[in-house]
Amino acid sequence: STHTAGIETQTDGGVVYRGLAGVTFDQSQITLIDGKQGRLQYRGYSIHDLVEQTTFEETAFLLLNGQLPTTTELDQFKHQLVAAREIPATILELIQLLKDGHPTEVLRTCLSALATFDAERLDGSVTATKARSIRLIAQMPCLIAAHHAIRQGKTPIQPNPTLDHAANFLYMLQGTIPSQQAQQIVNQILILHADHSANASTFAARVVAGTRSDWYAALTAAIAAFAGPLHGGAIEQVIAMIQAIGTPERAADYVANLQANNQPVMGFGHRVYQTEDPRARHLRKAAQALSAQSDNNYYAILEAVVQAMRPYMAKGIDVNVDFYASVIYHLLGIPYDLFVPAFIVGRTVGWLAQIQEQYANNILIRPLLAYVGPIDQPYPALSQRQ
Ligand code: ACO
Repeated sequence: STHTAGIETQTDGGVVYRGLAGVTFDQSQITLIDGKQGRLQYRGYSIHDLVEQTTFEETAFLLLNGQLPTTTELDQFKHQLVAAREIPATILELIQLLKDGHPTEVLRTCLSALATFDAERLDGSVTATKARSIRLIAQMPCLIAAHHAIRQGKTPIQPNPTLDHAANFLYMLQGTIPSQQAQQIVNQILILHADHSANASTFAARVVAGTRSDWYAALTAAIAAFAGPLHGGAIEQVIAMIQAIGTPERAADYVANLQANNQPVMGFGHRVYQTEDPRARHLRKAAQALSAQSDNNYYAILEAVVQAMRPYMAKGIDVNVDFYASVIYHLLGIPYDLFVPAFIVGRTVGWLAQIQEQYANNILIRPLLAYVGPIDQPYPALSQRQ
């Protein structure tokens, strides 16, 4: 067998769907992905309309509640998010103990630990669920920013109640109120990252929720799955690739070398898209705009990688969501090891909506494995084994 996902027929006639590729495991009302035409919709609304016309808060409300908020509902939701930002003091102590860990590991551990502060963690009522979701969304950037401050020996910057989710995140990381442009781009990136149907991390969250384990357990599993370099972790690999390439002229050789070694180009390829990821066009625009204002050559290197990847693109291996996002975060001044946590700030909303949907119509997720090892072996006594 190879690493490749797909269908394999066993000698006994059984069929194996490696990597569950193409397998539909439930119905959902959250996110539509049409991988052939490159369409992406949240609750029936095009990602292109949402990214151009809404804020992160409006899209988060939509994903969680199934419909766009009225003005009153949106105001209330924003206030609730601002009011829920405070992290328990014990979690700050935990961060202090773990401060030298990778930010994604620290975040994952904090999420798991937060369960112990929620006396209603098994309460699935609408009221408890809404309050918990708001708390989790609100606290995710605060956890990341608190760790970032603590690891530099600084006191965490208190959240600013006059700033929305996106702006406050940058503010807590950097200590200054971000520009209008930076605020708008972070809003857009959080919207684009908010959900993506049954990706590996969402699937992991649903598997855990499917056993009726609690929300914190499901989110911890989601972060664990997300961190790998074939999924959310790819964003760190993209920036490492850009640095390894160094100048646009060297991109073609770099890509050819990966190709010769049968290694994937990071930020390219996707299990469900056979065309450009529809999120990439907005990310490209933002990366280009920020790049035009700096003398950094990272965007030019990405363009050269795209040129070198043209033959692959004809085969449907195109840029994915991580490709341009890496340069955007870099040009916004976010350290490399916070790229994955920054993506998680957006994706938390989708995980919560997906966990909520799983609980609402729960089924234990329990697929099969085709056993292909030896059978009916005679048992040798320990003394007889070589
Ligand atoms: N570069 C070069 N070739 C690629 C790439 C790539 N990035 N991605 C896929 N291919 C090729 C494979 O070599 C394979 O070719 P073959 O049929 O000749 O062997 C074919 O396309 C199918 O690839 P698979 O790995 O089987 O496809 P799968 O659906 O399992 O892969 C994945 C999806 C893991 C995302 C893959 O494209 C990859 O490794 N990309 C790089 C990592 C990355 O950017 N991940 C982020 C995804 S977006 C996100 O998770 C937020």
